[in-house]
Amino acid sequence: MKFFLDTANLEELKKGAGWGIVDGVTTNPSLIAKEGKPIEDQVRLICGIVDGDVSAEVVATDAQSMIREGHQLSKIHKNIVVKCPLTRDGIMATKALSSEGIRVNVTLCFSASQALIAAKAGAYIVSPFVGRIDDISWNGMDLIRSIVQIYRNYGYKTQILAASLRSPTHVVESALAGAHIGTMPFKVLDALFNHPLTDRGLEQFLKDWGKVFHETSVAG
Ligand code: E4P
Repeated sequence: MKFFLDTANLEELKKGAGWGIVDGVTTNPSLIAKEGKPIEDQVRLICGIVDGDVSAEVVATDAQSMIREGHQLSKIHKNIVVKCPLTRDGIMATKALSSEGIRVNVTLCFSASQALIAAKAGAYIVSPFVGRIDDISWNGMDLIRSIVQIYRNYGYKTQILAASLRSPTHVVESALAGAHIGTMPFKVLDALFNHPLTDRGLEQFLKDWGKVFHETSVAG
């Protein structure tokens, strides 16, 4: 499963990339606005930190303008994936951009029927929002499972990116369901490391070692 960071914050991206386990980045207009720089500048900086797919979202709402924005965004860097919302216009733009070889991430997917449409339009990625579905008392993970099954049934190549992940459990369940990618905020990626038995075990190992070897490291 690929790990993407769902942030436009450069410090978070540098930290995550430093761990060597970040395969890509997703941004959205809210995340870009939080950093205060024009999208072109911000995603260019992001592409300099993470060597992998970087999703940058259009903000136009009609197909022609989305296509125009998609062209501009895709020229910023070879790793840019243009993000289009799952609206009728967004799907028309997805079809047009994908036909030109531009990779599109269809975002704001909340149902299996929408995911089918994204695949049929040639999307490179579809982004079902797990957490936001849970927020309205439905089961976001059931949607991931349904999409995995449907795409398998027909051999669709569109990658399933489990989005709006809010906890390590969300990440693990998405992996169990067969999502190709999980995108998560920095704090969720950080939390994936944690286990109290790891901390306790390491503390004991170092204590035992220190008793005999008087705190010297293996390298001397
Ligand atoms: C995905 O690409 C979205 O940016 C994101 O996962 C939305 O997450 P949120 O529901 O936590 O805002």
